[in-house]
Amino acid sequence: MLGLPIEDPVPLRLADVGEHPRSYGFPPGHPPMGNFLGVPIVIRGQAWGNLYLTEKPGADFDEADEQTALVLAEWTAIAVDNARLYADMGKQRDSLERAVRGLEATTEVTRAVGGETDLSLILETIAKRGRALVEARSLLILLEDAGELRVTAAAGEFEDHSDLRLTVAGSAPGQVFKSLQPSRLRDLDSALLSESDSLGMGGESLLVPLVFRGKSVGVLVALDPLAGGSEFGLESEQVLGSFAASAATAVATAQSAAEVSVRNSIEAAERERGRWARELHDESLQSLAGLRVVLSAARRSGNPDDVDRLLSQAVEQVDSTIAEMRRLIADLRPATLDELGLAAALEALVERLRWGDVLDVKLRVELATDATGNPIRFLGQIEDSVYRLVQEALTNVVKHAGIDRARVEVIEVDDEIRVSIGDRGQGFVTGASSDGFGLLGMHERVVLAGGTLAVTSEPETGTTITAKLPADHRADAR
Ligand SMILES: Nc1ncnc2c1ncn2[C@@H]1O[C@H](COP(=O)(O)OP(=O)(O)OP(=O)(O)O)[C@@H](O)[C@H]1O
Ligand SMILES: [Mg+2]
Repeated sequence: MLGLPIEDPVPLRLADVGEHPRSYGFPPGHPPMGNFLGVPIVIRGQAWGNLYLTEKPGADFDEADEQTALVLAEWTAIAVDNARLYADMGKQRDSLERAVRGLEATTEVTRAVGGETDLSLILETIAKRGRALVEARSLLILLEDAGELRVTAAAGEFEDHSDLRLTVAGSAPGQVFKSLQPSRLRDLDSALLSESDSLGMGGESLLVPLVFRGKSVGVLVALDPLAGGSEFGLESEQVLGSFAASAATAVATAQSAAEVSVRNSIEAAERERGRWARELHDESLQSLAGLRVVLSAARRSGNPDDVDRLLSQAVEQVDSTIAEMRRLIADLRPATLDELGLAAALEALVERLRWGDVLDVKLRVELATDATGNPIRFLGQIEDSVYRLVQEALTNVVKHAGIDRARVEVIEVDDEIRVSIGDRGQGFVTGASSDGFGLLGMHERVVLAGGTLAVTSEPETGTTITAKLPADHRADAR
């Protein structure tokens, strides 16, 4: 079985290694082996051995395990190849250290993607680790953008080159991008298409493509080696090439996450607009239509008593429509939030709900104030986020909890604003798919503001939404 990945150098994943036709049982005293994952170690196109794992507890090996094993096998191949290349022990050790550093850098990039979908942070990590890996003076990441290659991140010198664009057709990085082949150049500047593309860099450069699923997403450009002479060697090319494979996956993952998130925000905004349109239609337009009926009746009637009665009825209706419009406007953009700050806006929100007999909210707000008792204002985005979070959570209590009371706390502790909205209503099963955009929108808003959100809910015991946001104060706040 262990010869198989060498004869046919592709990954092999099995739920039970004993079931495979090539298996003829284990030698006496061999430990048990159930599930199996083997990947070939390929050096210069030839399989030299394999790396295998067995007995994964709890579940079979999956696609992610296979990818990880492939990365490990690739770095193993580089280490083995270099060890065979250098007879001298000192050089062997250096090259082994380099391979280990490469693997570490790759792992860090992979880990960064695990929790991070912010493309610019991922690019920064890739640029810094890639530069250290090949010991270059600078490293640029060029990503494809509408037919051009744009410098999207840089480490070392050239950090201010962020708006530079190169044409794909004709330029050396464009060639690497199209051919998916790495290249080493003596003088990058002269290989660029036009004067305006100039990087101001005449030194040695190493270019490797960022390839994800067989397609280029960009190019890594390492400029000017700092150690080991004036050229990037074959080893640097290999090391940066392997690193680029993982980096490309990271970039592609973050790019698609960013797209999904934009789509979700647009959908959420669309939903919110739909909701206001409905409210305007159902409440305000209906009462204006009612007013029209009353006024026409008054015009038709010849009897002064009737006209009097109808006109007072109309005035009443106008009053209630004005109140209705005020409520809508306050919901859309609470004036108190701009003028008086978060605490006052939350009090007004709670007051409106109590007044309409909609919901009885116990509110506790503890936010810093200055010596005269005025609030020390937070950044607009933070105040908006907290307000909208509380507003949506309370709307949900009214709509779904089946109860008429709730509790809200907004408390500033150290550098954090801790928000909690709780009800003892009927609760729901969290994580189940829902049609709503409320919870999704809450989550996005809080994350965009640099915070975290947690929803706990159990049928019968109720729902609690907690969030932590950075207590970032406005620049003019003292
Ligand atoms: N406080 C709560 N009590 C009980 N169920 C809740 C509560 N909050 C949310 N839910 C449940 O979670 C679901 C999702 O809520 P979400 O706010 O995302 O959507 P929605 O309120 O149904 O619609 P939308 O907010 O887009 O108008 C709700 O449909 C409801 O079943
Ligand atoms: Mg909702």
